[in-house]
Amino acid sequence: MAQINGCIELSVADGIAVILADNPPVNALGHAVRQGLVEAVQQAIADASVQAIVLGCKGRTFFAGADITEFGKPLQQPGLQEVITEFEASPKPVVAAIFGTALGGGLEIALGCHFRVASADARMGLPEVKLGLLPGAGGTQRLPRLIGPEKAVGVIVAGAPMPAKMALADGIIDEIVAEPVAGAVAFAKRVLAEALPLVKVRDREEKIRATRADPAAFEAAAKAATKKLAGVDAPAACVQAVRNAFTLPFDEGLRAERDLFMKLVVGDQSRAQRHIFFAEREAAKVPDMPPGVKAAAIRKAVVIGGGTMGGGIAMCFANAGVPVSIVETTEEFLQKGLARIKQTYAVSVERGALKQDAMDKRLALIAGTTDWNVVADTDIVIEAVFEEIGLKKEIFGKLDRLAKPGTLLASNTSTLDVDAIAQSTSRPGDVVGMHFFSPANVMKLLEIVRSKHSSFESIATAVAAGKLLGKIPVVVGNCDGFVGNRMLARRTTECERLLQEGAKPQDVDAVVQKFGFPMGPYAMGDLAGLDVGWRIRKGRGVTAPVSDALCEMGRFGQKTGRGYYIYENGSRVPVPDPDVEALAAKKAEELGVKRRNISEQEIFERMFYPMINEAARILEEGIAVRASDVDVVWAYGYGWPVWQGGPCFYGDLVGAKKICAALEHYAALTGDAGLKPAKLLQELADNGGSFGNFSLTPKAAA
Ligand code: 3HC
Ligand code: NAI
Repeated sequence: MAQINGCIELSVADGIAVILADNPPVNALGHAVRQGLVEAVQQAIADASVQAIVLGCKGRTFFAGADITEFGKPLQQPGLQEVITEFEASPKPVVAAIFGTALGGGLEIALGCHFRVASADARMGLPEVKLGLLPGAGGTQRLPRLIGPEKAVGVIVAGAPMPAKMALADGIIDEIVAEPVAGAVAFAKRVLAEALPLVKVRDREEKIRATRADPAAFEAAAKAATKKLAGVDAPAACVQAVRNAFTLPFDEGLRAERDLFMKLVVGDQSRAQRHIFFAEREAAKVPDMPPGVKAAAIRKAVVIGGGTMGGGIAMCFANAGVPVSIVETTEEFLQKGLARIKQTYAVSVERGALKQDAMDKRLALIAGTTDWNVVADTDIVIEAVFEEIGLKKEIFGKLDRLAKPGTLLASNTSTLDVDAIAQSTSRPGDVVGMHFFSPANVMKLLEIVRSKHSSFESIATAVAAGKLLGKIPVVVGNCDGFVGNRMLARRTTECERLLQEGAKPQDVDAVVQKFGFPMGPYAMGDLAGLDVGWRIRKGRGVTAPVSDALCEMGRFGQKTGRGYYIYENGSRVPVPDPDVEALAAKKAEELGVKRRNISEQEIFERMFYPMINEAARILEEGIAVRASDVDVVWAYGYGWPVWQGGPCFYGDLVGAKKICAALEHYAALTGDAGLKPAKLLQELADNGGSFGNFSLTPKAAA
C-alpha cells in the first residue's frame, strides 16, 4: 500500500487498484484530497499491473461534497472538475464505492467514474442549492444525461438526497452491494471478465436527445420546481445549467456551469446560506461546557399535557422511536389529545408522506394516562400544560417528588421564568426549558433555556434529546421571550403602531413577504390566533388598541373567519378588510395619532431594524452567546429566509451605522426609547464592527 499524502492511499491487489480517501469527519473534497486523488489515479493508470480502479472512502461516509470552508477563497489547483476529468479519462475502468452520503461534489466525482455501486443504506444527491449554489463539478451536465433533464431539474432544485434503491431504479448506480469497497472490487472484476464497454456519462446522449427536440416537458418541470422560489438566485441558475445540458455541447455546458457557480459563490445569498449551515452546527455547542460532560441516555419519555404542544412533542419522540407517555388531567382530555395525534398522522398518510405501517408503529409508541406514577420511570419529562406560573410550579413540585434521580425535567414554557420553575423543585440543576415551536412535530427549532441553576449534564442531555428528535437545538439564556419571541415582540409593537399611523396589514405583509418570509406578520397572527397575544397582554396589563379591539369583536383570526383579514368559508387565503382600516383610523383618532402615507422603505425598516436592535441587547446580556445563534433561531423558528442569513447576518449587510441612524429617527418619531440603538449596536456603528465578529465570554451558570 502506498500513502499518497495525509488523506489518500493507494493499494493494488489482484490487478485492481483501490484508492481510499480518509479525511474525517465527512471526507470533504478539500485541497489535499483533490491533490492526492489526482496523484493516485495517475499512478494507478501508469501501473501496468493495474487493470481496473476502485474509488472509495474510509470513515463514516463517501465524499460528502466539496469542502465548504474553501468557498469564497482563491481556488487551489487542482479543482474538482480537473480531478473528475482525470478519473473519467482513465483508460482503465473506474468503479465508485458509495456508502453513507455521497453529496454534491461527492456524487459528482462518482458520476465521473465509469461505474457506481452503493451500499443499501447509502444516500446520494446534489444539495448545493441549499448552500445557495449549483453543482459546480459537472453535476448539472452529467445527471441529466443519466436520468433525463426533466427529472434532473427537480432533483437538483430540491437538493434532497435519494436512497440507493431509488438511485438504482433511476440508473444513477449500477448495483447495490453488501460492502462498498469489496462490492466495487467484485464489480470491477466482472467488468473486466465481461469486457463491458467504458461509456462515459458525458458521452451518453439517449436521455437528452428527446428533450433537445422538444423541451416543453423540461420547461414545465423547471417551472414547477422553482414555483415558490422567485428572487432566489441559485434555483434559477440550476435550471439554466440543466437547460445547458441539452442545448450546449458537454464542454461548453461544463464551462457555463463553472461560470454560474463562481458568480453564486461570491454572492450574498450563498454567503448567507453557508453562514446558516455552519451556524446551525455551532448553535448546540456550549462554550463553557467542561470537557467530559456526558448526556444521559433517553430511552423513555413523559409529556405532561396532551394539548397542541404536548401532542406534537409526543409525536417527536414517537417519530424518533422513543416510547412516550402523555399525562393528562382527565380521561376526556387525554382521549381528545390522542385522537388529535392520530388525526395528524392520518393526514400525513393521506398525503403520501407517511406509510400506514410507519404510522401504526409510531402510534404504538405513544401511551396516555391520568396516573402520575408513570413519571417514576422515565429519562425525561417535558411539561406542556397551560402557561400559568402557579400551575407550572405545582407540577414541577410533583415531578420532583415522583421522578427518579437524574430525570431531566423540562418545561415548554414560552414566556415564564425558568429559574422560578426550577426553584419549585429540590433539584433545580435538573431543570431546563425546552421551548418547541408550533407545530412541534414539524418545526425544527428548539430553544434550550438554561436557567441559572441548570447543570451542564442537564444542558448536554437536553441538546442530545433535541438532536435525537431531529431538532436544531440552540442553547439560550433565561429571559422574557428567550431569543425568538423577545425579538418578535419588537416587530409586533411596530405592527400595531404602523396600523395606527396609516399602513394597511396587506402592505406590511407584502413587504415582509417580498424579503422572503413565507407569511407576513398579520397573516401569521391570524393563523396563530390573535387571542393568544391578547390574553398575554391582559395578564400583563398592556394594550395594543387595534389588535385588542379586533379581539373584543371576536375576530381571533383564521379560526373565527376574521382577524386582520377576512377568511371566507373556511378559506386560508387572507382577504383585505376595509373595516380593519376604518378601525385603525378610529383608534388613531382616539389616541391622537396622525395618519400618513408610509413608504415601503419605512415599513421595511420598522419591521426589521427594531428586531436587529433587540438581538444586540440579547447578545449584550449573554442570552445568546453568538450572533449566529440568533440567526439560527430566526431561520428555523420563524421562517427568516435562509438566503438572507438571519437578523444579525443581514444587519451586518446593512451596516450598524445605517441601522442606528434609522432607529434614532424612529425612536424620536414614536417617542419609544426602546427603539434607541442598543449599546452593542451603537458600539458596532462607532467602531465599524459587525455581529459576525462579535464574541462574548458566556455567563457561567451561577
Ligand atoms: N465541507 C466542510 N465541512 C463539512 C462539510 C463540507 N462539505 N460537510 C460537513 N462538514 C463539517 C460540519 O461543519 C461539521 O463540523 P463540526 O463538527 O466542526 O461542527 C462536521 O463536518 C460534521 O458534520 P455534521 O454535524 O453535519 O454531521 P452529520 O453526520 O450530521 O451529517 C452530512 C453529515 C449529511 C454529510 C452533513 O454534514 C451535510 O449535509 N454536509 C454538507 C453536504 C453538502 O452540502 N455537500 C455539498 C457541498 S457543495 C459542493 O459539493 C460543491 C460542488 O458541487 C462543487
Ligand atoms: P393547550 O391548551 O393546547 O394544552 C395544554 C394541555 O395541558 C391541555 O390539554 C390541558 O388539559 C393540559 N393540562 C392542564 N393542566 C394539567 C395538569 N395539571 N396535568 C396534566 N395536564 C394538564 O396549550 P398549548 O398551546 O399546548 O401550550 C402548552 C404550553 O406550551 C404552554 O406553556 C405554552 O406557553 C407553550 N407553548 C405553546 C406554543 C403554541 O404555539 N401553542 C408554542 C410554544 C410553547
